[in-house]
Amino acid sequence: MNKIYLTIIIVLIVNTLFSQSLVTIALESKDYALVLQADENKRLGTVYFGKKLAQKTEYAIAAQQYDYSDNNAGIYNNAYTPSGTWSMIEPALQVTHADGNISTELLYISHENQVIDKNVKLINVLLQDPVYKTTVELFYKIYHNENVFEQWCEIKNGEKGTVVLNKYASTNLYFSNSEFHLTHYNGTWAREMKPETEVLTAGIKTLDSKLGARTNLYQPPTFMLELDGKASEQHGKVLLSNLAWSGNFKFDFEKDSYGNLRLIAGANPYNAAYELKPNESFKTPALIYSYSENGKGTASRQMHRWAKNYRVPDGNGSRLTLLNNWEATYFDFDENKIVELFQGAKKLGVDMFLLDDGWFGNKYPRNGDNAGLGDWQENRKKLPHGLGYLVKEATAAGIKFGIWVEPEMVNPKSELYENHLDWVIRQDKRPEHYFRNQLVLDLSNPEVQDFVYEVLDSIFTKNPEIAFVKWDCNAVIYNAHSDYLEKMKLPQTHLYVDYVNGLYKVLDRIRKKYPKVPMMLCSGGGGRVDYGSLKYFTEFWLSDNTDPLERVFLQWDYSHFYPAITLCAHVTNWDKKATIKYRTDVAMMGKLGFDIVVDELSQPDLVYCQNAIRNYDNIKNIIWQGDLFRLVSPYENPYASLMFVDEKKERAVMFNYLVANRFDFTYSYQPILLRGLDSSKNYKVKEINIHPDVPSTFENDKIYSGDFLMKVGLNPNITLVRESVVMEIQEVN
Ligand code: DGJ
Repeated sequence: MNKIYLTIIIVLIVNTLFSQSLVTIALESKDYALVLQADENKRLGTVYFGKKLAQKTEYAIAAQQYDYSDNNAGIYNNAYTPSGTWSMIEPALQVTHADGNISTELLYISHENQVIDKNVKLINVLLQDPVYKTTVELFYKIYHNENVFEQWCEIKNGEKGTVVLNKYASTNLYFSNSEFHLTHYNGTWAREMKPETEVLTAGIKTLDSKLGARTNLYQPPTFMLELDGKASEQHGKVLLSNLAWSGNFKFDFEKDSYGNLRLIAGANPYNAAYELKPNESFKTPALIYSYSENGKGTASRQMHRWAKNYRVPDGNGSRLTLLNNWEATYFDFDENKIVELFQGAKKLGVDMFLLDDGWFGNKYPRNGDNAGLGDWQENRKKLPHGLGYLVKEATAAGIKFGIWVEPEMVNPKSELYENHLDWVIRQDKRPEHYFRNQLVLDLSNPEVQDFVYEVLDSIFTKNPEIAFVKWDCNAVIYNAHSDYLEKMKLPQTHLYVDYVNGLYKVLDRIRKKYPKVPMMLCSGGGGRVDYGSLKYFTEFWLSDNTDPLERVFLQWDYSHFYPAITLCAHVTNWDKKATIKYRTDVAMMGKLGFDIVVDELSQPDLVYCQNAIRNYDNIKNIIWQGDLFRLVSPYENPYASLMFVDEKKERAVMFNYLVANRFDFTYSYQPILLRGLDSSKNYKVKEINIHPDVPSTFENDKIYSGDFLMKVGLNPNITLVRESVVMEIQEVN
C-alpha cells in the first residue's frame, strides 16, 4: 500500500470516528428521517432528509458525503439560522438583545426525546447564544404512521432586560436535492386557490400575507414542493405543507450556492416585532408537513389521516348535510319565509337548515352588508319570535338548525361601533378604510375576546338545540392599530400576533364548553384556511364560487391538503346552466350541502336530488373516512376522475366530471385505472345518481376483479350528455 492510500484510509477512519462523536439527532417517522447534527463548533445543521436508513449509526456520517467547503459551509444548512454574525443568508431569527446588540449565534446545548404515545413522539433541541442568555428550543413532533412532521419553536428571553424578536420563524429546513418544483396557490374572492408551479432558481422566492385577518384571501399558507423534479400522483418526492396559523405568514424558499434549498417558514415578521420581558417566552406557530417519496397521492393521504386523527375536531366522525339560505334569500327574509324553507330541507332529505347572514340588528337592521354587524340581537321585524321559534319549528319539521355569525367584525353603522369605538382596529388620525363596509374588532383586547365568546355563548345558552355554526370573517385589517395595546403601553407591532392568539383563546373557550358542535370556518370562502383554525372547526368553506366546473378544480387542489370531510361543497344556482346532476355530483366529493330554493326545482330534478342525498347517506362514510385517489387530473385532461376507498377495501366510490366541451376531446375513450382496491377481491360496479331524464348507458352490477379494475380499468362513458358519472364499487364474495 503506498503512502497516499494509507493517508486516505487514516483520514477516513479519523473522520468516521470524529463524526460518530458528534451529536446526531435522527428524527424518524415510519419511512423517512430528518437528521440534525451539531458540528465541531456545536452549530446545529440539517444533514439529511429522506428515506430512513437501515443502520441508524450511519446517519452520523451522512454529512461527510457532501463537500461543502466555502465560507458558508455550516451556516446554509443551519437548523435555525441566526443573524448578525457571519451569516449572510435569510435568517430564521433576528433579535435585538437587551443591550441593543443585534447579533445572535445559536449553539447546541441538549436535546430530549419524549414518547407521547405509540405513534407520536416529541423531540426538543435546546440552543443558546454563547454570549447572551437567550435560548431557542426547537420542537419536532413526529406522527410515525402518517409520515407527518409538526415543527415549531420557543424563544426565551434569559437576559436582564427586554429583548425584541424582529423575526421568529417556525421552521428552517434544508433540502439537498436537484430540482425543486414549488406549487403555491393564489387568487382573490371567488377565484381562490389557483395553483401555480415554478422551478425554483437561485435567490429567494417569498410567499406571504400581510392581511391580518382573512389572511388567505390572496394566498393560503400552503404549498407543495416536489424535490428532485416533477412528481406524479404515484411517483416522486413530494412535501405538502401548511402553516398552522390564521395570521400573516411568510415562507422564504432560498436556493443557496450549492443548489440546495433552504426553507424558512413562519408568522410574518412584517410590522410585527415582538418584545419579550425577562423570562418571557414566545411560541411560534407550527409548520405541518407530510412527506412522501411515492408521489402526491400518498403525501395527501398521509396528511388527511393526520388531520382526521390529530387535528380536526371529530375528524373520524360524521357531519350534517344541510340546506343554507344565503343564495336563496340573501338578506331578504323573515321568519315565515325561513319556516317555509324548512319544508324544502325536509323534502330534500338533508339533516339541517342553516340560517345565514341578516337575522340580527335593530337600530341598524342587517338588511344589507353595510349595517348591523356587531349587534347580535335578533331583528324584531324579521324574527319577531326570535331564534328560539325557528329552532322549535325546525325541530317540528324534523331537521336540525344551524346559525351564521361573524363575531370578529363590526359595521360602522352599528350600536357596537357607537358604544365601543376603542374595540375597533382603526387609526384615530386617519380616515377609516373599509373592506365589505366593515372593520375588524381588536382581539388583542381581553374585553373583546369576552365579547366574541359571549356572542356564541349567549346564542347557545338561549338555544341549546342549535346544532351548527357557520363562522364568517370577511374583512382584512386596514390601519392596524390597537387602542388596547396603546393603553397597556405595549408595542403596536404586537397586534398581528396578539390578534390571532386572541382569536385562538376565544375558540379554546368555545370548544371547552361546546366540544361537539360542528362549526364551519367560512371567511368569505377560502379567506382563512389553515390547520391552526382547523383545530377548532370541523369543516371549512372553500370559496363563495360554487360554479360546479370551477369547483372541480378548486376541490381537486384543496384535496391535496385537506380531507373531504372538511371540504364544504354546496349545490347552488351560481351557474344556472349547469344541470342539477352535475352540480350535485361535484358537491358530493366533499361535505354535501344545498343552497337553493327547493320549490323551484322541476319534478325530475327534485327526484334526482332526493335520490342523490339517499345515495350520499349511503356512501358518505367512504368519502369522509376512506382514502382518496386522484385518478385523472382536470388540468391535463378533458375530464377529472377521483375515487375514495374504505379502509378495508370493501367499498369505493368513483367520481368522474367532464371539464371541457369540445366535441372531439370529451369522450372518455379509454378506461381509467382505478387505485386503492384489493387486487384479489371481486367488486360489483354500479352507476348511481342517475337523473330521470338521462338514463345510464353503463352496464350495471357487472362484477370485475380488483386486479382488472386496477390494470385494465373502467370506462365511465363520460360524454357531452353524461358529463358527470358516479360509480359505487362494492366487494362481492
Ligand atoms: C360570505 C360567505 O362566504 C357567504 O357564504 C355568506 O355567508 C356571506 N358571507 C354572508 O354575508
